[in-house]
Amino acid sequence: MAVGVFDSGLGGLTVLDAVSRRLPDVPFVYLGDNAHAPYGVRTPDDIFALTCAATERLWEEGCDLVILACNTASAAALKRMQETWVPSHKRVLGVFVPLIEALTERQWGDNSPPREVAVKHVALFATPATVASRAFQRELAFRAIGVDVEAQPCGGVVDAIEAGDEMLAETLVRAHVEALKRRMPHPQAAVLGCTHYPLMQHVFAQALGPDVRVFSQADLVAESLADYLVRRPEMLGPGTEAKFLTTGAPRAVSDRATQFLRKPVTFEAA
Ligand code: DGL
Repeated sequence: MAVGVFDSGLGGLTVLDAVSRRLPDVPFVYLGDNAHAPYGVRTPDDIFALTCAATERLWEEGCDLVILACNTASAAALKRMQETWVPSHKRVLGVFVPLIEALTERQWGDNSPPREVAVKHVALFATPATVASRAFQRELAFRAIGVDVEAQPCGGVVDAIEAGDEMLAETLVRAHVEALKRRMPHPQAAVLGCTHYPLMQHVFAQALGPDVRVFSQADLVAESLADYLVRRPEMLGPGTEAKFLTTGAPRAVSDRATQFLRKPVTFEAA
């Protein structure tokens, strides 16, 4: 009954942590494509090929359902995967839709036509590839009308976090928030559209000010997954064992992951 969780690197561990807390009986298999991270500066074709390869690896582990806990993969590859590649007995879900459902105050999985919503000005912070894909705006337009989205590509933040350089990450986050505020001085909501950013949530919140509601993904994805599995229990795959896989060097990745999650994590080679 395992479920796969994929990320380009370590950022998806924030999502893994939330889904494991919400669904403690489900064994999750995490795959970090550390050998090819970061994805945020890659082309859509490249991201598609890498994400398909990682998803196949998780299917081999008995995970019929794979969560792309990576906004960049969800934005640049998921639609193409679902339309052209995923077989009917498997599922691949992304992290955008739960966030947008929360932002537009919908029930999980509510696919009714778009309607007016309370929030009108939204700031999106994400990787350059996610911003370039415009996937957030596309998914939002299916659900809401009249929402103005200003997106800020946050170059450098993922690298600084992966390198453990908190000071640099903080400086970059403040600069990106300032840049966005020059174009949208009064956002009502801010979306942290990258799995690494929850680690900098306090910095985003402080730089944005108390009037901006900050939406972060991990807990929203966990709630939405729990609801999905009640509706589709057959998507729990045959896998039985929770594990951490990486395409990178397991020892080095384990050390960085332990630092990142602030608890011991042991990766094995994918
Ligand atoms: N984890 C990816 C995301 O959520 C960002 C890291 C990367 O650029 O690979 O967008």
